[in-house]
Amino acid sequence: MDAMSAKQFEVIASLAKEYWGLNLSERKTDLVRSRLGKFLARSSFQSVEEYLEHLRTDADDEDRLVFFDLLSTNVTSFFRERQHFDYLEREFYTPLSRGTLTLPGKRIRVWSAGCSTGCEPYTIAIHAHEQMPDIAEWDYQILATDLSNTAVAAATNAIYPERMLEDIERPLVRKYFLKGTGAQAGHARVAKQLRSMVSVARLNLMDPWPMKGPFDIIFCRNVMIYFDRNTRERLVNRFCDLLRPGGILAIGSSETLSGIDVPVRSVAPSTYVK
Ligand SMILES: C[S@@+](CC[C@H](N)C(=O)[O-])C[C@H]1O[C@@H](n2cnc3c(N)ncnc32)[C@H](O)[C@@H]1O
Repeated sequence: MDAMSAKQFEVIASLAKEYWGLNLSERKTDLVRSRLGKFLARSSFQSVEEYLEHLRTDADDEDRLVFFDLLSTNVTSFFRERQHFDYLEREFYTPLSRGTLTLPGKRIRVWSAGCSTGCEPYTIAIHAHEQMPDIAEWDYQILATDLSNTAVAAATNAIYPERMLEDIERPLVRKYFLKGTGAQAGHARVAKQLRSMVSVARLNLMDPWPMKGPFDIIFCRNVMIYFDRNTRERLVNRFCDLLRPGGILAIGSSETLSGIDVPVRSVAPSTYVK
């Protein structure tokens, strides 16, 4: 492959902005060059220029999603940024169990927006099971969405290499994962009781959303880091439209809502309440 020029990187960055609101900084140049190089080597495109021309003129949604996967990062892990789970234990599950918080119809709705390969929504499900011994009496559903096709497929399969379970306490691994055998040795699948709480779907956060809410909790962690200020402000306002009053919004610990106009108040690090 010919090397990607600075001009070509600019074209890539402007397409990423137009399609998905992504803000590709120049620091990503090396990463994009390397991923693009590997992709082109196994594709029928002869050059970066030819591929960019295809993206600009005749690419369909699927082609664009392959391009998205080249640019985005799906890094995630179970029980990532534990402070959100500690907050939920203190301010959501404990008041629920004491009856100082009541929810009509015993209905709980959580959205993991930008769920990547699923560690986040399944962590929410494990934590909910641990916090709510009476969970079977509740209508508890978690919506998990991501733009990436590969991430959505992985989240749907819910099969993970065992090394990804290292951050989970052993008794929880025994309780909520099924060890693979044969071809699946070295992998583990999330137990059915958790999978049945989680609905995985593909969704571009920049597009109109089919759901009406209201949600009790929205996680959008380590996603907005790629968006500029205006995109973040618009997105968080749209989240707030779907959160019930008192609903909780969790964002990534390296992200901030300071300086943007949104109807939430900060209640703990990277945690907000409508
Ligand atoms: C770094 S991962 C974070 C995963 C998880 N929330 C966590 O904190 O562990 C960021 C995810 O955001 C997704 N993403 C980026 N832009 C998106 C968009 N416009 N719509 C939906 N998902 C998007 C990416 O596909 C990726 O899976």
